[in-house]
Amino acid sequence: MAKIILTGDRPTGRLHIGHYVGSLRRRVELQNSGEYDRIFIMIADAQALTDNADNPEKVRQNIIEVALDYLSCGLDPAKSTLFIQSQVSELTELTFFYNNLVTVQRLQRNPTVKQEIQMRGFNDSDEADNKAGTPVGFFCYPISQAADITAFKATTVPVGEDQAPMIEQTREIVHKFNAVYGETLVMPDILLPDNSACLRLPGTDGKAKMSKSLGNCIYLSDSAEQVSAKVKGMYTDPEHLQVSDPGHVEGNTVFTYLDAFCRPEHFKKFGDKFHGRKVSFDFHSLDEVKAQYRQGGLGDVMVKNFLDAVLNDTLEPIRARRREYEKDIPYVYEVLRKGSEEARAVAAQTLADVKRAMKINYFEEGTLDELIREQAEKYK
Ligand code: TRP
Repeated sequence: MAKIILTGDRPTGRLHIGHYVGSLRRRVELQNSGEYDRIFIMIADAQALTDNADNPEKVRQNIIEVALDYLSCGLDPAKSTLFIQSQVSELTELTFFYNNLVTVQRLQRNPTVKQEIQMRGFNDSDEADNKAGTPVGFFCYPISQAADITAFKATTVPVGEDQAPMIEQTREIVHKFNAVYGETLVMPDILLPDNSACLRLPGTDGKAKMSKSLGNCIYLSDSAEQVSAKVKGMYTDPEHLQVSDPGHVEGNTVFTYLDAFCRPEHFKKFGDKFHGRKVSFDFHSLDEVKAQYRQGGLGDVMVKNFLDAVLNDTLEPIRARRREYEKDIPYVYEVLRKGSEEARAVAAQTLADVKRAMKINYFEEGTLDELIREQAEKYK
């Protein structure tokens, strides 16, 4: 069976380093591994609109931002199909049929949707406020996500941990569909990040999640200076007051970021100069750094300077590529236009399979004759 990847992001802002370690970096590796027959990367504008109905301009503007972030991270249109969800109308048709296979009660149990509803305050606005309540489209987005995944016959969905409930829901829909209508849809597997620090990167303030609304993000498109300033202000161990004090590594955001970003070569590279700053770091592995921090005698400033160097080392090539693509916006739209066209052809094929399985393909070649024969029999 063909190995196919589908994944994507909502275009509600530029992508940040949480997206990078949680998903983007892996996607590029998977793309370049040559192990996959097809890779689809979707900008989920229709999903973004489920809680931004009154702000389509935000979604529209961020399509290009996300596309620029994709290309600058190394997603290559020659190897991966980059497309815009709303341009593949077959997805909404699939969603409509899948709606019948899912109960309201099941959706209500989805922990990610629950949490998102709470974060957006959909439940606690008063009734006089016409924004009160959860938009139906938002509540049902796990079903539309099942359409996204199955439309492309995806076998592998590389996503962050918060998306696990969506993949679970998708698997249930696939199971149910195939049981009721016959083997049609492909069962997808989730592919989580392999480094546990990357499962969910905390914000720079130490809060559980990096999120634009919390203002605790480091964006892929941030300048080196912006990154340095954000690292300087990062949350560390509140009990580590003096350099000589023993410090905690667990729950220390600076170390979580190092776990996610630091590679062995960084130790060779940053004993010396970086961004004009001497980082003179006399360690040879992250374990050594951690041991010293735990024991005491290693200051936060030192560790932050190292993290700053490591982060900027990772982000600089991405920034440089972004600047190139920013000069050629027509090319970026052309990539998305072509990708959307390709994606649409694939989704149309699956939709035809689905309609055939559900026997709602009345006018398909051959089917009509059969229908007429069947009815002729009945009305003889
Ligand atoms: N829900 C994903 C996010 O929040 C975006 C998304 C939409 C997606 N459809 C998908 C991810 C299908 C993986 C597969 O970013």
